[in-house]
Amino acid sequence: MSKIIAVTGGTGAQGGGVANIMLKTPGWKVRVITRNADGEKAKALVAQGAEVVQADFNDEDSLVKAFEGVHAIFAVTNFWEALFTGNTQQQAGEIEEEQSMKLARAATKTSTLEHYIWSTLPGAKNMTDGKIEVPHLDYKANVDARIKSELPQLANKTTYLFFGYYPSNMAFFPFLKPIEVPGTGKWIQILPTPSTATIPITGDMTITPGTWVRQILANGSKTFGKYAIVASEILTFGELLEIWSQVSGREGAYLETTLDDFAKVWGVAGAEMGAQLKFGEVITDWGTNYPGLISKEDLGITEDDAPGAKKALEALKSFL
Ligand SMILES: NC(=O)c1ccc[n+]([C@@H]2O[C@H](COP(=O)([O-])OP(=O)(O)OC[C@H]3O[C@@H](n4cnc5c(N)ncnc54)[C@H](OP(=O)(O)O)[C@@H]3O)[C@@H](O)[C@H]2O)c1
Repeated sequence: MSKIIAVTGGTGAQGGGVANIMLKTPGWKVRVITRNADGEKAKALVAQGAEVVQADFNDEDSLVKAFEGVHAIFAVTNFWEALFTGNTQQQAGEIEEEQSMKLARAATKTSTLEHYIWSTLPGAKNMTDGKIEVPHLDYKANVDARIKSELPQLANKTTYLFFGYYPSNMAFFPFLKPIEVPGTGKWIQILPTPSTATIPITGDMTITPGTWVRQILANGSKTFGKYAIVASEILTFGELLEIWSQVSGREGAYLETTLDDFAKVWGVAGAEMGAQLKFGEVITDWGTNYPGLISKEDLGITEDDAPGAKKALEALKSFL
């Protein structure tokens, strides 16, 4: 009999990538959790063979019901939605932490659960001795600590995932999308970090999230309590822009700005993203402080299974 994985965020980038691959993985059925089971994305997932169940991260009881009978849960929360709807960076973090704990507590009430996969990020505040705060990282890291201290039974079957930077940010996030400079034939990417700064890249978001989840489930208890980075490669921002230029056929120019100026243009979202980039300048290895990180190779993930930034941007060419 097939096992069931509940995929939160299945109508979005991470969960969508998980659902895509798990729907093709023998032995597994996919249950997507969404607030809008009648929406177009939900209908498309049903057409691909998924079950779709309505629940809300703000409503723990709805999550308990949605998780009934599942063997695995992929849990992801969306910091940016709270930020883009009028909250401060800290408030958005608090909302995300609260939602994440509701997900985790609902998971503990799922008697059939064998594996919990939590999409978190490295804690910037902890890793920089309080010098750099990045709420969309720090509040997720708080949740890791709370799962370990408040829900030890769940911690015993949890694998923690750090997602790298999505190449699709260059297509869909206004402040990360290169901008045309009228009359020059050039497109500039303005970021508050040097072009030589590095970042792990998730690669093709329709594939890599599911590849990691499939392999984590296949490796089972070996991955309990461990962290893994969903990344096809590590690139500099300059290299990423070069790939964008090759794929789009446009000449890209990289312009470094200050965090203050970036935030002046893009508001709280710019301040938040810029803070992450400052963190990345200080901590280049996300595995620092996370001993026992499971590598791509440990999980049995090959290059073919993890298409990188070039393939990701080629698939998104019409959105660049
Ligand atoms: N962009 C990057 O490079 C990057 C890198 C690493 C990590 N991240 C992290 O990724 C997270 C966002 O994930 P994503 O990029 O997959 O987001 P996304 O594409 O914007 O999708 C968000 C998903 O979350 C679901 N969702 C949001 N609020 C919900 C609620 N209250 N109840 C139920 N479902 C809810 C949405 O479902 P419905 O709308 O269908 O209900 C949707 O499926 C953020 O926290 C961010 O920090 C981003």
